Amino acid sequence: MATLKAVRGTRDLLPPETALWNKIETAARRVFARYNFGEIRTPIFEDTGLFARGVGEETDIVSKEMFTWEDRARAASEKPQSLTLRPENTAGVVRAYIEHKLGETGQLQKLYYVGPQFRRERPQKGRYRQFWQIGAEVIGPPSSGSESPLRDAEVLEMLATLLDEMGISGWTLELNSVGSAADRARYNETLRTALIPVVGQMCADCQRRAVTNPLRVLDCKVPEDQPIIATLPTIADSLGEDSKQHFAAVRAALDSAGVAYTLNPRLVRGLDYYTRTTFEFTHGGLGAQNAILGGGRYDGLSEAIGGPKAPGIGFAMGLDRLVLTLQAQESDQNAKPAERPAPEVKIDAYIAPLGESVNAAALALARELRRAGMSIELGDGSFRLKKSFEAADKVARKIVILGEDELAYGILTVKTFSTGEQTKVERGSLCDFLKN
Ligand code: HAM
Repeated sequence: MATLKAVRGTRDLLPPETALWNKIETAARRVFARYNFGEIRTPIFEDTGLFARGVGEETDIVSKEMFTWEDRARAASEKPQSLTLRPENTAGVVRAYIEHKLGETGQLQKLYYVGPQFRRERPQKGRYRQFWQIGAEVIGPPSSGSESPLRDAEVLEMLATLLDEMGISGWTLELNSVGSAADRARYNETLRTALIPVVGQMCADCQRRAVTNPLRVLDCKVPEDQPIIATLPTIADSLGEDSKQHFAAVRAALDSAGVAYTLNPRLVRGLDYYTRTTFEFTHGGLGAQNAILGGGRYDGLSEAIGGPKAPGIGFAMGLDRLVLTLQAQESDQNAKPAERPAPEVKIDAYIAPLGESVNAAALALARELRRAGMSIELGDGSFRLKKSFEAADKVARKIVILGEDELAYGILTVKTFSTGEQTKVERGSLCDFLKN
């Protein structure tokens, strides 16, 4: 029988690497708490229409990369429905904001999420079909201050802090403004005109997009089209006075907080909901998939999916890419990582029952110690003592031997591997002994 494997573009994450994933998530949750964000968890699948209307029909994500299926009705009361595994989380968060009428509180909503997303992209290093994002959204009615450029700058400043606390160094913040909906409409017309004489030499996708949504021509990855794309006008010239002022205020606040950035007038991002500020953080250690995170403002997204006016700004970081970046940084610091011994993170003790008759009592002892906060590995009474010692030495700092005599007299033998010392310890003081 053919062996079953994880589906192309998906992968298993195993210990000890998962400890690094947890470390990053813990750092993120710590920073989010400091900035007064609360966690939101939305379903991993949604009505397909949410992404079609929110992210945009003409984007690569919606037109090529979604995992979509027709969900059959199971009862006469149900209707068949087109469902999609979420390719990103912003649309889901805004749907939840509308559904739970969070805007009616009048407060700015500051929400973060950690979870898997799904895109049918061509898999390569740093690009997977199931990948993880840590993201956050700041959204609210205009009266809550949600449109203020200070919010944009604060989110970017928080990102600089987040990356620092995760231990990621050497990133670049690329910044742009894609203007208001009206500015974008103007830019789309400018692009449409500029494309007329050249689009005949471009790929089929670009030819279609030149008509339906010219902005998306800028997402084209076909190498032959790049020299043409480089000659197209940038959005900077289409920005209206309000957008220019908003962007200037974002930049002034970033300068004041000392957050460095590079302006990139071609950064339009591959999702249709963006307005005004857009950004990406890139990292040199990643190769082709060098964006560790991306985001921006989406002032019209709520209305696009049937909600009230609710300007917002947010970002999502690729957790898979953060892990790769940290691993690349670590191997840079140590020229020959393979020769380094793995860092020793040993548990407090290994309990070795001497014979199967004390297995049950060993479980009770393990429970007692674990409930007292000790990290414990439990052996098995069918092991010979030598095998228990070998197994214990690999994972634990100490071994506790539990036989019939030990049980009867309440005195246990404990060996400390680092010193080779063997000590008799009363059961009552075992916890204190193991702690030291
Ligand atoms: P995005 O740029 O599509 O934005 O994705 C954000 C980040 O997710 C990327 O910078 C990258 O690190 C990671 N990522 C994307 N696709 C993959 C993949 N196939 N494999 C591994 N990592 C990937 C969004 O998703 C927006 N929702 C961000 C946002 C939030 N904008 C406003 N609020």
